[in-house]
Amino acid sequence: MSVPSETFALVQKHDGYSGKAEGPSIESLDLYLDAATIPLQDLSDGQVLIKMLMASINPSDLHYIKGEYGHPRVKGAAAGFEGVGEVVAANGAYAQSLVGKRVAFTVDPAGSGAWADYAITAANVCIPVREDMRNEDAAGHVVNPLTAMAMFDIVRKSETSSFIMTAANSQLCKLMTALGRDENIAPIAIVRRPEQAAHLEELGARHVLCSTSDDFQDSIRAVMKQEKPRVLLDAVANQVSADIFAAMPNRARWVVYGKLDPQPPAFKEMGQFVFMEKRIEGFWLTRWFMSTPPEEQIRIIGEVQERFVSGKWQTEVGATIRLKDAMSDLADALRNANGKVMLVP
Ligand SMILES: NC(=O)c1ccc[n+]([C@@H]2O[C@H](COP(=O)([O-])OP(=O)(O)OC[C@H]3O[C@@H](n4cnc5c(N)ncnc54)[C@H](OP(=O)(O)O)[C@@H]3O)[C@@H](O)[C@H]2O)c1
Repeated sequence: MSVPSETFALVQKHDGYSGKAEGPSIESLDLYLDAATIPLQDLSDGQVLIKMLMASINPSDLHYIKGEYGHPRVKGAAAGFEGVGEVVAANGAYAQSLVGKRVAFTVDPAGSGAWADYAITAANVCIPVREDMRNEDAAGHVVNPLTAMAMFDIVRKSETSSFIMTAANSQLCKLMTALGRDENIAPIAIVRRPEQAAHLEELGARHVLCSTSDDFQDSIRAVMKQEKPRVLLDAVANQVSADIFAAMPNRARWVVYGKLDPQPPAFKEMGQFVFMEKRIEGFWLTRWFMSTPPEEQIRIIGEVQERFVSGKWQTEVGATIRLKDAMSDLADALRNANGKVMLVP
């Protein structure tokens, strides 16, 4: 195959940070992206060119294109942090060994984004994918599954018999719910739509509480009394989260790993940090990669693939959009899909 010198892609319109914190909702994609054909840079040593099979869309991508993520946007560069595809060209000995393989990957800052027909990234962040792993699972192999494994380890080490998750119908929380089910640490799921409860119970949630129900405060108090959860894994970080944390027992940890609600919470019970040994902390997968030894990462990646292939985990896909239709269809799909939205060439 001849190696392409350009790619069709969803390209960022803005540089840097927006200075805002609106959350990942998208009114209209064309505020942030253009569909365009852009040149592909020459591969540097250690880089691979990937022909895309599928890219997942995560809230982090949406925070990023809106200019409110942990690193700045680059105008003119393709968006999309994660996906699966086939390596079609490479520079360097290790990179060459991946040519012809299906790999799951994240795009490093020197590369070119996954919302495109072709992406570029470092060979050493590519994960060869087992043949029996579906593209739907491989497209989201890194961001959510590794975060699920890492944060569930926080739960495990906290010696708690239960844990609470907000935004519990997210793909990430479905993975952590299954881990809780399998290791008998009771998942307590907080959602904002009651119709999500039955499915989460099927996946293994012991309790599903709806934050918009009239009896939410009573249900929270009852669950705290019954389960005494010591860990709150929180992607919403709003007043509901703060109120849940205030109701948790001694030595509770509030682990903030997302900011889905742009409204900031207020916490009035400061004495709890003194007298009840409570703690607030953050989790970011990028830092986990920096602090976790490579052999441990490889072990966990193997476990992630095994969980998907064996059916213990599944990526629930709500919509699949063609790249060429993304400018017109993606924002609606993100608003309405019940499950992950995927992009395909
Ligand atoms: N820190 C890290 O390293 C890291 C790594 C991975 C993921 N994350 C974070 O994990 C979260 C979940 O990611 P995902 O890919 O699993 O998400 P996802 O499958 O796309 O699902 C998003 C979920 O968020 C809920 N949600 C959105 N806005 C909300 C709000 N204002 N209040 C309450 N719930 C809200 C949605 O609820 P409805 O179903 O009611 O619409 C939906 O269930 C995101 O915040 C993401 O940024 C962080």
